[in-house]
Amino acid sequence: MCGIVGYIGKQAAIPILVNGLKKLEYRGYDSAGVAVLDPEGIMVTKSVGKLVALEEELGTDYSQSSIGIGHTRWATHGRPSYLNAHPHCDCGQNFVVVHNGIIENYLELKDGLLEKGHHFVSETDTEVLAHLVEDYYEGDLEDAVRKVLKTIHGSYAMVVLSRKDPDKLVAARKDSPMVVGLGDGEFFVASDITAILNYTRQVYILDDGEMVVITDDGIKVTDFEGNPHTKEIYDVKWDAVAAEKGGYEHFMLKEIHEQPRALKDTMLGRLEEERVVLQEVDLTLDQLAQINKVYIVACGTAWHAGLVGKTLIERWAHLPVEVDIASEFRYRSPLVDEHTLVVVVSQSGETADTLAALREAKNRGARVVAVTNVVGSTVSREAHDVIFTWAGPEIAVASTKAYTTQLEGMVLLGLYLAQVKGTLLSDKIGGIINALKRIPAQVQEILDQESLIKELAKSFVKVEDAFFIGRSLDWAVAMEGSLKLKEISYIHAEAYAAGELKHGTLALITEDTPVIALATQRDVFDKTVSNVKEVKARDAKVIGLTYKGNTSLVKSVDHVIYIPETLDELAPILTVIPLQLLSYYVSVARGCDVDKPRNLAKSVTVE
Ligand code: F6R
Repeated sequence: MCGIVGYIGKQAAIPILVNGLKKLEYRGYDSAGVAVLDPEGIMVTKSVGKLVALEEELGTDYSQSSIGIGHTRWATHGRPSYLNAHPHCDCGQNFVVVHNGIIENYLELKDGLLEKGHHFVSETDTEVLAHLVEDYYEGDLEDAVRKVLKTIHGSYAMVVLSRKDPDKLVAARKDSPMVVGLGDGEFFVASDITAILNYTRQVYILDDGEMVVITDDGIKVTDFEGNPHTKEIYDVKWDAVAAEKGGYEHFMLKEIHEQPRALKDTMLGRLEEERVVLQEVDLTLDQLAQINKVYIVACGTAWHAGLVGKTLIERWAHLPVEVDIASEFRYRSPLVDEHTLVVVVSQSGETADTLAALREAKNRGARVVAVTNVVGSTVSREAHDVIFTWAGPEIAVASTKAYTTQLEGMVLLGLYLAQVKGTLLSDKIGGIINALKRIPAQVQEILDQESLIKELAKSFVKVEDAFFIGRSLDWAVAMEGSLKLKEISYIHAEAYAAGELKHGTLALITEDTPVIALATQRDVFDKTVSNVKEVKARDAKVIGLTYKGNTSLVKSVDHVIYIPETLDELAPILTVIPLQLLSYYVSVARGCDVDKPRNLAKSVTVE
């Protein structure tokens, strides 16, 4: 999510660090900072906002130190601010750390350190790392970091620099990317290859559970126990633009592939065996007893996530839910009062209509919970409670990883409400949690079938209209599938509740009309198949989507895409993946501008 750069060599580190950070800025960060080692000690320079602010702060008379670390921040724990900007130091200013990811148990660790007399200046989880290194340090930086790695839970890529061990960078990774660049008498470490591509094309790509010690003399890669690992040099052939996209042709494809990681991060620290932990939402049973209605309000893709949320909350927490489009909600005097819980869903947290809906709901006395991807966004600041999705920056206009993590947010909220209200037994919650934990790997399984979907996309190149049908939660995902296809391939696409076709839409189905039929929901599966037969009888070309192991759908359709088996309530997180890939490859095949479709903007801050 954030960006890391480190340098050790013979040149002045600061220009190299700033240059590297600039290459990461395209993602839109909220603060940046660098730390170098001078004879007087660790010198940290930070600033809020764009990198130019950091450059101004550094001026031209900067330190000539040849060892340092830098960071651009996309806020997770703690809002965007000077104090929360990285790098972070320990109390004695002996250790300095930059970190990407989330330290799940940081609050517990922070409490322990506070008891020992440590003093913290930021709200971040990262600062805990610097203090932990300080706490564990007994003369060997590598040992201290290794002990830290054994203490922390979560996802991370981190680099540590110390004045006690001045010629060394120690870095480690788990579930967050990190590469080490090999130069001529100099070394680099970075979260993205882009950051160091101006200096070297020879890199080690660190694997999860690897730690690296970099000195002037060379690089030592080990596991967290200290056992040496031999690495192969990877010769980067991408140009700088391709590197920003992690080697993918488009940001959208990169972001589609980031979903297993994004989903894992979003559940991190929030799942116990039979309990959901949503520290950010503080609703007591008494407060919830006062709530008689839930509204989910959002726009576009986020609204589609809300449609899934409705079923989950109604099914699990037995609360009636209305889902509304923010631009409608704000102008139609919604029946909202202090007995209403309003859930606003917004990737950017800045969508004008969603924000206005939030304010309208607050004015009417409602309790507002936001599900958003951007810490520090207006929505996150103005809502009473916030569930952050940890998708990381989404750059492609068409939302993908934000949507699936919003769905996960809906699952977490639904379970949380049911837990507080006592409408789901804990073993049932435990079962859903177990299934949810399997989802990231199952998403990966679907991504591994990419070539099949790419092949299918070829048949859409000349298509003018396409239909998506499904029942229940499949219908909600059908809407998202149809939006994805139309917004990036400009094919007219519509989603219908499968049972509704015969009330009008069926008139549009003629020979070879493509119909994508989602058929995962077990309670309505047979009904959906009957609707598939209705379109097949009009010679439509039907692509079905169902669980692996289902042997009946294949008999009624032209082609089936299989997804791994899961609970029906979680299926939307899986079914949307092939639809995203399909839209992507259709858009590419039609020569459209995938990442920046015509007439659209990423964040809609006007009405
Ligand atoms: C479609 C898409 C949009 C957004 C919508 C709301 O791919 O991305 O429909 O979902 O503009 O944006 P946020 O979630 O930022 O409020």
